[in-house]
Amino acid sequence: MTSKFYVTTPIYYVNDKPHIGHAYCTILADVAVRAHRLLGDQTYFLTGTDEHGQKVQEAAQKRGIEPQQHCDELHLAFKDLWPQLLCGTNQFIRTTEPRHRAVVQRALQQLHDRGLVVPREFEGWYCVPDERFWTEKELSDGKCPACGRQVVRLKEKNWFFLMSQFAEPLRAAITSGRIAIAPASRANEVLGFLDKPLQDLCISRPKSRLQWGIELPFDRDFVTYVWFDALLNYATAIGFLDAEPPTDAAQWPQPSASGTANFDQWWPAVTHFLGKDILTTHTVYWPTMLMGLAQAFDKPHDAWLPRQFVVTGWWLLDNAKMSKSIGNVVNPLDMRAKYGPEVLRWFVVREMVVGQDANFSEEALVRRNNVELANDFGNLLQRITALVDKYFGGQVPTPPSGAPTTDAQRAVRELVAMLLRPDAASDDGQWAGDRVAPVAVSVRAFRLHRLAADAMTLVSRLNVLVQHDAPFRTARDDLPAAAQSLYCALEGLRIAATLLQPILPMACAEVLRRIGADQQARPLSELSWGQLPGGAQLANGPPLFAKYDVPISVAAEVAPVVVAVDKPAPLRPVQSPVDTLIEAARVPVVIDQFAAIDLRIGHVVSAAPVPKSTKLLCLSIDLSEAQPRQILSGIAESFAPADLIGQQVLVLANLAPRKMMGLISHGMVLVSEDAQGRRVLVQPAHPVPNGGTVR
Ligand code: MSP
Repeated sequence: MTSKFYVTTPIYYVNDKPHIGHAYCTILADVAVRAHRLLGDQTYFLTGTDEHGQKVQEAAQKRGIEPQQHCDELHLAFKDLWPQLLCGTNQFIRTTEPRHRAVVQRALQQLHDRGLVVPREFEGWYCVPDERFWTEKELSDGKCPACGRQVVRLKEKNWFFLMSQFAEPLRAAITSGRIAIAPASRANEVLGFLDKPLQDLCISRPKSRLQWGIELPFDRDFVTYVWFDALLNYATAIGFLDAEPPTDAAQWPQPSASGTANFDQWWPAVTHFLGKDILTTHTVYWPTMLMGLAQAFDKPHDAWLPRQFVVTGWWLLDNAKMSKSIGNVVNPLDMRAKYGPEVLRWFVVREMVVGQDANFSEEALVRRNNVELANDFGNLLQRITALVDKYFGGQVPTPPSGAPTTDAQRAVRELVAMLLRPDAASDDGQWAGDRVAPVAVSVRAFRLHRLAADAMTLVSRLNVLVQHDAPFRTARDDLPAAAQSLYCALEGLRIAATLLQPILPMACAEVLRRIGADQQARPLSELSWGQLPGGAQLANGPPLFAKYDVPISVAAEVAPVVVAVDKPAPLRPVQSPVDTLIEAARVPVVIDQFAAIDLRIGHVVSAAPVPKSTKLLCLSIDLSEAQPRQILSGIAESFAPADLIGQQVLVLANLAPRKMMGLISHGMVLVSEDAQGRRVLVQPAHPVPNGGTVR
């Protein structure tokens, strides 16, 4: 059964210059869209810009132009960016479009007419840059708790949406899983927020202070609070309250249908992608607004509840959130210009566990490109096609009829079978017990980093296959054996390219073209072993990915060692079927892969903070080698250095050395996390000799 999958990104502040944090959000949503298409879902993808509010008004004033002109110029920085990063959005919405204004006013009027928006005299602390009120208690040292800037005391009449009425239905919708929030830890955070009494929401701003907004239809002295206006974009875009189509009507899901017909087709099958800084506005304001609107339009209160939220972490630079106000931003177009869009897409998806923070480092990006894309993936294609050229005239060898004949072939076949097990979902879209294909689970649970990792495991096994089966040797006196190895390699590569296509759409289409497969990747449900036809003509071409010199940046700092591990189980019982399946989604490794990892016990001789780093400690660890090892570990937030000295720890000893904050780190200390998210050492049950191995 095909499902509908409507995806939105946050609409970006038009004043900002796009940086990696923005780019990540849209790239991740794009990967999700493409991956859902691979699962056979029908998709629709929206992005846009958020154009009202004080900051825009001020910026335009500074430039001496009208705010509308300012927005008309600036929104292009975002609109033009997405195609350059290969993000295939279907529609770009701007909150200053008349069709959106009409929807916001229609919604407000109805809420007002049904008594869900009411006037009140209100006094509070107001943060001008953040455009929001705070209570006395919320202030931190008398300043804005969000941005730390000065607040001013304001008393004024305003209009309030009776949000507090919907606190309990919202809680029920989250705890029952009716609204899914991934990762589950964020759902707990929202429930924690709902433990405190929910206030009503001030949804107006007096024109005396702000003119650049959508006028309240029932009180011309006010404009609409920018978040109330902005959140509605997700619904306007597909025809809510019979909205007009976009200027280019072809961008609408069904260009010939009315707003209402489009909306009914796609809502509430929506998945909102957002960063963790805008969690409350999205998971509290927005669903309660929709409950209020449903009530006001005589629908059941949960009729329009959005289905899912995917909450992402932050890209950090030198451990601070990348943001325009701090000025520590990396421009995605610079990365694109140097390395191309797919290297950037690969890095951000592969490096960041969805939902957690990660450090951006150009050095790490280049390393991932050189090792994973250029070497493991790109070279694999070159090696296989060269061998097929040389020994089989450039044609796919005849598919073998028998079972795999070598361990390496068996390892590839087993992994493919496991990744693609077809009984992924039952007809109603519910996950079927523990017999779920890891690829489908990763996609449906938005663990898109896992999709990348699983596909790369397959690529590694294909490299092992070429190495172990050595078709370049067997071809000399056992051509059928070489044919069998190379067919297996080509077929594995076809499947790896299909799985990687959501992340690397151009490169993977090229791989498929060169190995004589359909260039349009098949849906997962139709993907099976042996579809590559024998005799298909291979094509040659230049290497898929170039290699670059690694720019060593002393500022680059690795994320804590647990960064590649998903967060532990939720603290509260939130129904999230996919979370129970994480374990089922792990890809098994063969014994050779485990044997390649050198785990050793050592004891900590000294430990000290690393200057200018809040996360790193510099440890000296005795592994019974000629000298203790220097290892940097991202555990400073969980341990005082003195607590570590003398402790035995488990070390990944054959990790390639790397430089962080100007210091060489040679190895990795293994840790886990407790329920509060603090790092915990992994230690032997009783002391063992230093340097002892772990099996
Ligand atoms: N305009 C609001 C969203 C309104 S949606 C109805 C807004 N815009 S924003 O431009 O400031 O942020 C857009 C998205 O970019 C947010 O999800 C935010 O979390 C994300 N990022 C901004 N900086 C980021 C990083 N450094 N790292 C990752 N994403 C971050 O908020």
